[in-house]
Amino acid sequence: MASSVHHLLFIINLLIIPTTLLSQSIIQMPPRRHRITDDNLYCDSWRFSVETNDAGTWTSIPSRCVAFVQDYMTGDRYLSDSAAVANYSLSFARGFRSEEMVRTLGSSTSMRLCSPICPTIRRMDSGLNSYGHRSVTFDEASFDEWVDLAEAPALPASLKLYKELKHLGFKIFLLTGRSEHQRNATAKNLLYAGYNNWERLLLRGPSDQGTTATVYKSEKRSDLINEGYRIHGSSGDQWSDLLGFAVAQRSFKLPNPMYYIA
Ligand SMILES: *[C@@H]1O[C@H](CO)[C@@H](O)[C@H](O)[C@H]1NC(C)=O
Ligand SMILES: *[C@@H]1O[C@H](CO)[C@@H](O)[C@H](O)[C@H]1NC(C)=O
Repeated sequence: MASSVHHLLFIINLLIIPTTLLSQSIIQMPPRRHRITDDNLYCDSWRFSVETNDAGTWTSIPSRCVAFVQDYMTGDRYLSDSAAVANYSLSFARGFRSEEMVRTLGSSTSMRLCSPICPTIRRMDSGLNSYGHRSVTFDEASFDEWVDLAEAPALPASLKLYKELKHLGFKIFLLTGRSEHQRNATAKNLLYAGYNNWERLLLRGPSDQGTTATVYKSEKRSDLINEGYRIHGSSGDQWSDLLGFAVAQRSFKLPNPMYYIA
């Protein structure tokens, strides 16, 4: 019988490892316990927690992990982790039969190509745009100068994935939290880094100001679905790229232990 009170529900998915596996060499148990005070051990656990989003919103790298994160980002590990994620994205993408691709792409040919960028551009043209300022903790002026430089290199794994997806016939939408007034610099930077022929570059227009990244990106995905697209895959270095509503069939989280955008 239905109760009038709400039951608190929390699903715990069990991880069950057969004991036979434990006795096999597949899972190597550590020969001895590391001390929990070991910074590397602590920071690796911290990194795991932020990447899985178990940590939720976090605002700064623990001071004892700054050097760890620097090593991670500048060493082979970051490139390898990114490549692993890109490889899984690609395996998933390759799973679509070619006839399904054609049907999917075919259904998008009668789309309103204007939406959702055109209304934004019209507002810009008529001079009505007023860009709200995001509240960010980093120095926005110098960040904007960096954006204007348009010389950020591509993450090799992402560029490779992009090219392979193009080759497979996917339409690729680039969705960014950058403002519409950074469109030219962003497009220039993408071309400089080796990206080209994207389907659409989606930026935060004046009407998108004041929403969280999760809501903004969900709304943009929702717009695409309303246009008739099916979003097969989504890839991003932030959970706010992937969560919310109108989510992709599969989401692929790239590593980023440097900052968290809610
Ligand atoms: C990714 O795939 C490439 C090509 O198949 C392979 O050479 C590379 O080892 C893979 N990298 C990772 C980290 O899985
Ligand atoms: C962007 O580039 C286009 C074409 O080069 C130009 O017409 C337009 O004024 C530029 N917009 C901004 C905001 O700089």
